Amino acid sequence: MMGAVSAVDLERRASAAVVTLNRPDRSNALDRATVRELGRVGRELTADASLRACVLTGAGERVFCAGADLKERAGMTEADVREMLDLYRSELAWLGSAPFPVIAAMNGAALGGGLELALGCDLRVAASHAVLGLPETSLGIIPGAGGTQRLPRIVGTSRALELVLFGRRLNAEEALGYGLVSRVTPAGTNVVEDTLGWLAPVLEGAPIALRAALEAVRGALASPLEAGLDTERAAYERCLTSEDRREALRAFAEKRKPVFHGR
Ligand code: COA
Repeated sequence: MMGAVSAVDLERRASAAVVTLNRPDRSNALDRATVRELGRVGRELTADASLRACVLTGAGERVFCAGADLKERAGMTEADVREMLDLYRSELAWLGSAPFPVIAAMNGAALGGGLELALGCDLRVAASHAVLGLPETSLGIIPGAGGTQRLPRIVGTSRALELVLFGRRLNAEEALGYGLVSRVTPAGTNVVEDTLGWLAPVLEGAPIALRAALEAVRGALASPLEAGLDTERAAYERCLTSEDRREALRAFAEKRKPVFHGR
């Protein structure tokens, strides 16, 4: 092999970024260096005003991410583990707060912290052979990268408890039925290409409206209803004064497709 191999690869695909966990010999598990690198990549991407979406995936075809690097974890003190939990929180927060949607394209198994990584994203797509689960209690711990809080918000308390208490693993079709993923990529199709194709309306839509919608919907579960309605109102205001809104009205009257410029 030539040159240094990065734990996280970043590729630009037109107005989308594709971020790839690249530790296939460790099932793309999250060690300290990988989590720090994800944070660094996130800071770089969130500063890029031309980005319309980000797809997060894993190298290879078997595993998206096997969660905590259990080989590294075996040599960690309790203080080291506490530091790691803080690192997950600080370095991965951008996945759900970036100025563009982040979509986990799960190319294979997403277990423990690997599934929590996907839960921290705005949306999830799974390869047809993917399995998803939170096996932490079988290891004498609980999900510690947001899983106990994000999973019930996505699938409801009963289904979340089933996954967390019983350590139940879902296949891709079951995950679709639970609303845990939005889409299952057909067998034989690359999950990243499929996800980028599925994202076309987001990549090509009205930039100001899409950003405002993302912010308003993200705010829904983070605040009481009245505060959420204020967030929606403030986000709507940014669309109301945009040239894109006037263009959409003109296009409707002229029976043509609108051309959006993000102004
Ligand atoms: N941390 C570090 N290394 C890991 C790992 C993890 N969480 N999960 C897998 N690996 C390593 C394996 O040890 C193996 O390396 P080795 O051959 O040098 O020992 C390599 O990744 C491939 O794993 P393998 O099990 O042979 O591949 P697979 O495709 O059959 O299965 C998984 C992949 C992810 C389903 C399986 O490895 C697994 O269940 N891993 C544990 C997941 C887990 O419990 N995570 C922690 C939750 S808190």
